[in-house]
Amino acid sequence: MMNQIEEVAQWIFEAKKVVVFGGAGLSTESGIPDFRSPGGVWDKYNPEDFYYQNFIANERSREKYWEMATEMYGPMKKAQPNLAHLAIAELEKLGKLDCVITQNIDGLHHKAGNSEERIIELHGTAMYVTCLDCKKRYDRDEIQEWIKKGTKVPYCDDCGGPLKPATISFGQAMPERETEEAYYRSSTCDLFIVIGSSLVVQPAASMPLIAKRSGAKLVIINRDPTPYDDLADLVIHGQAGPTMSGILEIIKRRLGIAGNKNIR
Ligand code: APR
Repeated sequence: MMNQIEEVAQWIFEAKKVVVFGGAGLSTESGIPDFRSPGGVWDKYNPEDFYYQNFIANERSREKYWEMATEMYGPMKKAQPNLAHLAIAELEKLGKLDCVITQNIDGLHHKAGNSEERIIELHGTAMYVTCLDCKKRYDRDEIQEWIKKGTKVPYCDDCGGPLKPATISFGQAMPERETEEAYYRSSTCDLFIVIGSSLVVQPAASMPLIAKRSGAKLVIINRDPTPYDDLADLVIHGQAGPTMSGILEIIKRRLGIAGNKNIR
């Protein structure tokens, strides 16, 4: 009887188009807290302070937003890819990854070595900042320097518009191209693997459903149960890093490249 990890490895081996769908649970082993586990971001901050409408509405909300965003950026900037990120990057090197759709804003799939064109950042990225008026783009570290020097709320040095990290806040429009692309990839894959997401935030959480309805096998690798567990073909309630690392080792063994740390 094949165990669950061997079964997922087998399905990846046989699949033509594998889509990985990641949530904050993919990055907790890199030291970045997730949102809804005990001690997560929403235990610390009130989600309403992150609403886009409040950010637009007044200076005080923008000040509060930047205080929290600055605090959250610290662990992100220092974070390194963990075993799960590295396994997903190796999947691409083995030619077994169609794309990774991520809800995360930490840029760790880029750091792990996945190519830009195979990473779909549904909720944007905290790695740079944009002006909400003229769309001018700033490196995140440059703006954090302004804040370190005493700026409470940064404004665009071209047009004076409010600056905000290039992430998607509650109430903010989803990025059109990325969302369309994610729907398309979800509906045309034959294996959809969710890693580290509570699957409660729409429209991201509809992607696994679209994949399943389009005929794909659905695998969920998540420490806690999700609302889609009953829909999944296989659920592994475990840690993302060790689970994905074990799956990759089996695939590499079958390809006769086991023990080769990094596929070059
Ligand atoms: N391995 C496996 N699963 C894990 C791990 C881990 N190391 N750490 C946490 N998890 C699981 C938790 O059990 C939880 O179900 O990851 C899930 C993380 O869920 P959330 O914190 O809700 O994160 P996510 O699903 O990405 O949230 C979606 O909500 O607030 C918004 O924009 C934010 O993108 C985020 C969105």
